[in-house]
Parts: sequence; C-alpha cells; structure tokens
Amino acid sequence: MERTPGRVLVIVPTYNERENLPMIAGRLRAALPDAHLLVADDNSPDGTGDIADELAAADDHVHVLHRPGKQGLGAAYIAGFRWGLDEGYDVLVEMDADGSHQPEELHKLLDAVADGADLAIGSRYVPGGKVVNWPVSRELLSRGANTYVGIMLGLPVRDATAGFRAYRASTLEKIGLNDVDSQGYCFQIDLTLRTVRQGLRAAEVPITFVERTVGNSKMSRKVILEALWRVTMWGVTGWQERFRPRR
Ligand code: GDD
Ligand code: MN
Repeated sequence: MERTPGRVLVIVPTYNERENLPMIAGRLRAALPDAHLLVADDNSPDGTGDIADELAAADDHVHVLHRPGKQGLGAAYIAGFRWGLDEGYDVLVEMDADGSHQPEELHKLLDAVADGADLAIGSRYVPGGKVVNWPVSRELLSRGANTYVGIMLGLPVRDATAGFRAYRASTLEKIGLNDVDSQGYCFQIDLTLRTVRQGLRAAEVPITFVERTVGNSKMSRKVILEALWRVTMWGVTGWQERFRPRR
C-alpha cells in the first residue's frame, strides 16, 4: 500500500529551462499523479514562463509563480515555500528542472517523511547514492564543498548541498523563512543547518543524480563565493557561541 505523508507540492525553480520543463513536468505527473507542481520562474529570457503557463492552463495540478528577474535559487524557493504554506500543503519538495533529480525516485523521499523525518534529503554520498555524467572538476567541487561544510559546521549529513529534498511544512514553519539571506545554492546548506539546530531530524536516502543533457548549469563564481563566505561565517559564529565563557 502506498504511504502518503499528506498533500505534496513539488517546487521547481527555473531559469532558461524551456527544453527541460515539459519533460520534467510530464515525468513528475506520471510518477506521482496526486502531487502538485509549482514552477518558480525568474522571468527567464528564453520564455520558460510562457511554457509553464501553458502547462498550468492544461492541468489543474500545475501552478506558476512568476518572479520579476533572476534573484537566485534560494530566493525562488523561499517564495515557493511561502506560496505552498499559504495553500496548506503538508510536504514541500525541492527538485531541479533539468532531470538531474528523477521524479521516479521522489517516492523514496516521501516515504522517509512518512516514516518521521522532518527533512528528507536525496543524497549522492550515502551508500547506494550515485552521480552520472559529471566531469571530474564538478565532482571535486561538490565533494570539496561537503568536506568543508563537514569541518566548519559538523552537520550530521553527507550531502548538505543536495537540491532534491522534501520538507515537512511544520519544519519550514519552525525554522522560519524571514531571515534567510542565502540567495544561491548555499541556501541548501543554510536550511540544513537551521533544521538541525532546531533539533529536527534530517534523513538521507540514496539517489542517482543524472547530469543534465540539455541547457546549461547556472552554477557560477558568485554562487561559489557566496557559499564559501557564508559557511565560514556560520562556522565561526557557531564556535564563538560554543566557547563563550558562561557566568
Ligand atoms: N528561479 C530560478 N532562479 N531558478 C534557478 C536559478 C535562479 O536564479 N538558478 C538556478 N535555477 C534553477 C535551474 O533552472 C534548475 O532548475 C535548478 O535551479 C538547478 O540549477 P542548475 O544550474 O542545474 O544546478 P546544478 O546542476 O549546477 O546544481 C545542482 O547541484 C547543486 C550542488 O550539488 C542543484 O541540484 C543544486 O540545487 C545543488 O545545490
Ligand atoms: Mn543541474
């Protein structure tokens, strides 16, 4: 029997994903027919927003959030989370548009939530997890980022930068979204840290991450520098709090 953790909203942020969006929407709708999809588009110059509108017009399980311009993955997710919490969804999922996160594996994350996880992370770096078609340079960047996060923050997860996740609505309400400043991909680390610091449970399930075949990654120097800077600051302020003398 299928276990359901409640009403599920899958948020897919898009920036120039016109060739990928119909593919990922179709795969999600086939894999989990009850789940709803919210496309959070940053006014993509390639017209991804118009394609999202066409999909939404033809399917009452598809919704679109049009944002004024490119403001980063983190900002798009926060807007999507707010929309989903207002609409009363029980579980809010993060998934990339480019096929790297396979909708056919999403049930594993939802099962982990149904089993009690406050956050389920689709992990590349636990036993059974894999990455397909990444150049060595990108794998080194991702492994290096996770190693640095491990040293600085000591999070109890192997893949803190992963972007395939399922949050219980109550988790997002507890951690609070108002003071999240992370704009780029370090948003993923930021929310993992907040979840763990609230004493909530993050569970990792193995997934296979498949590098995109169409379109381009939006990873940039700016994204990397923001992550490096913020992780360093979170680490240092965490240590200061731990070692502050008590009176
Ligand atoms: N709305 C919006 N605004 N969407 C964005 C933006 C933005 O500024 N930047 C990226 N996206 C969307 C892309 O269109 C895609 O759907 C998704 O976010 C992921 O972007 P990619 O550029 O494909 O990411 P990646 O493959 O390099 O990185 C993946 O791995 C990272 C590190 O492991 C993602 O899964 C990241 O979430 C993850 O942190
Ligand atoms: Mn990608």
